[in-house]
Amino acid sequence: MKPGVTLRDATEADLDFIMTTERLPGRPETVGTFSRQAHLGQMARDGTRYVLGDVNGGPAGFAVLRRDADDMGNLQLHRFAMRQAGIGHGALILDALIRQAFATSGIERLWLDVLPGNSVARRLYGKLGFREEGVMRGALGLPDGSRRDLLLMARLRRDPPAEPAQGAPWATPDAAG
Ligand SMILES: CC(C)(COP(=O)(O)OP(=O)(O)OC[C@H]1O[C@@H](n2cnc3c(N)ncnc32)[C@H](O)[C@@H]1OP(=O)(O)O)[C@@H](O)C(=O)NCCC(=O)NCCS
Repeated sequence: MKPGVTLRDATEADLDFIMTTERLPGRPETVGTFSRQAHLGQMARDGTRYVLGDVNGGPAGFAVLRRDADDMGNLQLHRFAMRQAGIGHGALILDALIRQAFATSGIERLWLDVLPGNSVARRLYGKLGFREEGVMRGALGLPDGSRRDLLLMARLRRDPPAEPAQGAPWATPDAAG
């Protein structure tokens, strides 16, 4: 059966879930962490939206979306993390986020950056139609003063729909449509 995915605006009440998720082992290096106060500040920022992805009625992951201030229809998937990785929740929630983004009038480009070594995220983004556009050299500054490259990826409204991967929940005959 196709799992039910719901996107909803996150509230302060969701910050425990978000902060625990971003602090799981290995996560601070890939998604970064904020204090509660910093999250509240981000949540209140114009053009920023915190989204909770529920799968089968329970919180499965979160995303932070930022509309670029250039007013040219660019939306950034700024943060994206699942509580439990590798069980398909990321694909379900990202698919819903993409549909919702391009159902919004004026959004033409959904973009993100990812550490080149984050193979799981790269695979997922590629599977859902994001194209690799190049390396932003030294774009990520770390607390120790070092810098890392980031890979720029984007999906455009006009891009063809991504092919569902074999084994993805929506690819099974009983889940079609
Ligand atoms: C990145 C993330 C959001 C993806 O969500 P997810 O639920 O784990 O992803 P899914 O299970 O839907 O899909 C993962 C895909 O990567 C594949 N994969 C798993 N391990 C892999 C590896 N080591 N190398 C390459 N691909 C891998 C899976 O097989 C799956 O592809 P498939 O469906 O074609 O088989 C999640 O893993 C996460 O929260 N990671 C930590 C935070 C993070 O890195 N966020 C992204 C920052 S840009």
